[in-house]
Amino acid sequence: MRTEQPKTIYLKDYKAPDYWVDETQLTFELFEDHALVHSRLALRLNSDLHGDGALPALTLHGQELALLKVVLDERELGEGDYQVDDDSLSLQPADATFALALTTRIEPQNNTALEGLYKSGSMFCTQCEAEGFRKITYYLDRPDVMSRFTTTVIAERERYPVLLSNGNPIASGEHEGGRHWVSWEDPFPKPAYLFALVAGDLCLLQDSFTTMSGREIDLRIYVEPENRTQCDHAMDSLKRSMRWDEEVYGREYDLDIFMIVAVNDFNMGAMENKGLNIFNSSCVLAHQDTATDMAFQRVEAVVAHEYFHNWSGNRVTCRDWFQLSLKEGFTVFRDSEFSADMNSRTVKRIEDVTFLRANQFAEDAGPMAHPVRPDSFIEISNFYTLTVYEKGAEVVRMLHTLLGEEGFRKGTDLYFERHDGQAVTCDDFIKALEDANGADFSQFKRWYSQAGTPRLSVTSEYDASRCEYRLHFNQVCPPTPGQPDKLPQVIPVRMALLDRDGKEMTLRLNGEALGTEAVVSITEAEQTLVFENVPTCPLPSLLRGFSAPVKLSYPYSRDDRVFLAKHDPDGFNRWEAAQGLAVDVLQGLVDIHRAGRPLNLDQRLVDVMRSVITDSELDAAMVAEIIRLPSEAYLVEVAEVADVDAIHFAREWLRRALAVALRDDMAARYQALAAAGAGEFSPSASAMADRSLKNSLLGYLMLTGEQEVLNWCVRQFVEASNMTDRQAALVALVNSPFEQQREAALADFAERWAAYPLVMDQWFSVQAMASQPGALERVQKLMEHPLFTMRNPNKVRALIGAFVNQNLANFHAIDGSGYAFLADRIIELDRSNPQIASRLVTPLSRWRKFDDERQALMREQLSRILAEKLSPDVYEVVSKSLA
Ligand code: PHE
Ligand code: ZN
Repeated sequence: MRTEQPKTIYLKDYKAPDYWVDETQLTFELFEDHALVHSRLALRLNSDLHGDGALPALTLHGQELALLKVVLDERELGEGDYQVDDDSLSLQPADATFALALTTRIEPQNNTALEGLYKSGSMFCTQCEAEGFRKITYYLDRPDVMSRFTTTVIAERERYPVLLSNGNPIASGEHEGGRHWVSWEDPFPKPAYLFALVAGDLCLLQDSFTTMSGREIDLRIYVEPENRTQCDHAMDSLKRSMRWDEEVYGREYDLDIFMIVAVNDFNMGAMENKGLNIFNSSCVLAHQDTATDMAFQRVEAVVAHEYFHNWSGNRVTCRDWFQLSLKEGFTVFRDSEFSADMNSRTVKRIEDVTFLRANQFAEDAGPMAHPVRPDSFIEISNFYTLTVYEKGAEVVRMLHTLLGEEGFRKGTDLYFERHDGQAVTCDDFIKALEDANGADFSQFKRWYSQAGTPRLSVTSEYDASRCEYRLHFNQVCPPTPGQPDKLPQVIPVRMALLDRDGKEMTLRLNGEALGTEAVVSITEAEQTLVFENVPTCPLPSLLRGFSAPVKLSYPYSRDDRVFLAKHDPDGFNRWEAAQGLAVDVLQGLVDIHRAGRPLNLDQRLVDVMRSVITDSELDAAMVAEIIRLPSEAYLVEVAEVADVDAIHFAREWLRRALAVALRDDMAARYQALAAAGAGEFSPSASAMADRSLKNSLLGYLMLTGEQEVLNWCVRQFVEASNMTDRQAALVALVNSPFEQQREAALADFAERWAAYPLVMDQWFSVQAMASQPGALERVQKLMEHPLFTMRNPNKVRALIGAFVNQNLANFHAIDGSGYAFLADRIIELDRSNPQIASRLVTPLSRWRKFDDERQALMREQLSRILAEKLSPDVYEVVSKSLA
């Protein structure tokens, strides 16, 4: 916490470091009430910057440290020989190369920010990205300083039998008084943000993997003893990730050992520390009894993501934190392609696009909008955003689309070869792709520097006499903070033209035959494509697979959308058409409701839904996606001024109307799926797809209010062979008007799973998200539950996060109670964990989306927060939100 205004850091001010750290030797002495950190650094002048031999002062980063000892080249310095302030240590070297030994004292047991070295339950662990290492010892804590680390951990053997760090174990031994030590050596130079240490009483699941060159790797997943049976899926995902990275990118693992450790208290999902990934237990543990299918898929994706970082992030890292998307955008792209290969490609794409449009588009339209490569920040932790991650991945995906599979691979091969062992920039990445392919991405690079979501408006004309079909494209990117004017970007549009039977026509453009599907690049603000030899007026299928992260509009009628939903040969666009129809219908209902007129059901939507529910040929997961209505969050995003009450009312009304209209078809399919899924649990993709559809149907059917459906639901809750089915039944009951059954199910669930924190997180979330009136009181009461604690980020996300992000009707209650509640929580949390507090500000930051009355209430709460003494994290987001 500081009182003076936090400083803004700019990309344009980047300067290479004055000194390099060639070697880093660390010794940790861990105790219950403190830890001593001894470091010995081999430093060397950066002679590229200081060729004249003049020696600048050495300034190391450090925060919240007690400095006990400073030894420069074997000479212990006195207090007058160096300067220490709140975030640095400076001293004057006498030679171009020298050794510096430091001892600092820290208190991991009091570290509630979960950054640096801290305790999670009874274990010690670290989190150093982005700038946490400076809370362990004074250091050049910046990613362009790469060093070889050797680490010795000393702790009481009884409490901490397992002592881990990066690289390979090289020695171990005993000390007096029941203490023991282990030394680790990491041969690969790395920035401090990839450092990790773990000490605890852990058990392990062990396996091995033989790499493409025949090396055998020791694989280990460490967890607390009670979780030992929940690691198989993570291990299996790890092995599949290792194989996939060899096959798709030619990347082999490099150390002899790869470790994953699960911890309960973690700010994010997981962390790619070299050879020692540390995971939020929610992203490791998965067993059918306790984890839903969604959790299984998340574990698979996060394990892959962190593993893939070994090349995209660790072997080749970032020069500075403005380049964060270099590793994150690329790695998210890699993990989503992995998941697409392991599961249904179309469904994975639908999930990613749904998430991006509901969340990243909102970020791009809000006060924190920033480019994929930001130009400035106050607190880097605030920039682990949907833009850097998800939009960054979309940008890499476009490069993949433009170069094709093979060209992209040539580019990444060159990138890894050219920059192995270096800390580089997004420009270096693009340059490698260009050089390997003779491509020119100079205009494309605007995707890295311009914030905001481009709108791509398309209109068409058919000239029957000339058999010509013209598509007019218009792109506009709205202003964002600090960027009033935008230049046109390269927008790859994957597309086809469909005839009246839904068949793809052959595309001819400028005399060239392009086949039945093409990727056309829109590069101008206004651009027209003239398709030749078009025998009849086509219906365009545009932006297939969401080939660019833009807001596309084309004047489709509802009938056009019905046609595409039924006939587009492209699965993604079939879903997109159905989704577009549902959005259109819902927006219509919102308007009618606001005008005080009675709502009516468009039969065309009923027909589309019926046709997929009764289509047993179609992948059940696809059916589930098609019948899922757009989320309230997405409807808020696409609204000019969002009327949350009307959106909630219209969406609930439509869900119920569809359930009533399709009751028999839904019931038949539900029954069939329930019968097929009875018996032995199967983790296969098709069994998951069946469960997904079955449970989505159950959610609808419960809205009919029929006693018979209630019986099915209760039965599913009681008899479920897995958490997916049990949790879905619980959700349906909690959102139903059957109060007695709802409370009974909640009580039963809590009793049964009280010993499983991750399961209880779901129990908290289900209630936080229930949309009946009175949710806030319920949440407040749940905060007093013995298993709830504000100190555990998963609990905060499960209860507070779920309420403010997923329960829009209640959070936006017109009396302002939801806003005041959130502001209180942010102020309270900022004192213990600024990163988590800062993330909670998001829903308040979106105030411009709402009516005047709500705007005033939300701003009032933001101002109230701003009047407090704040961390830089919360200060940045709140002050920018009010600007
Ligand atoms: N680098 C981590 C990832 O991409 C995310 C992370 C950032 C974790 C900061 C912790 C702290 O998965
Ligand atoms: Zn990552």
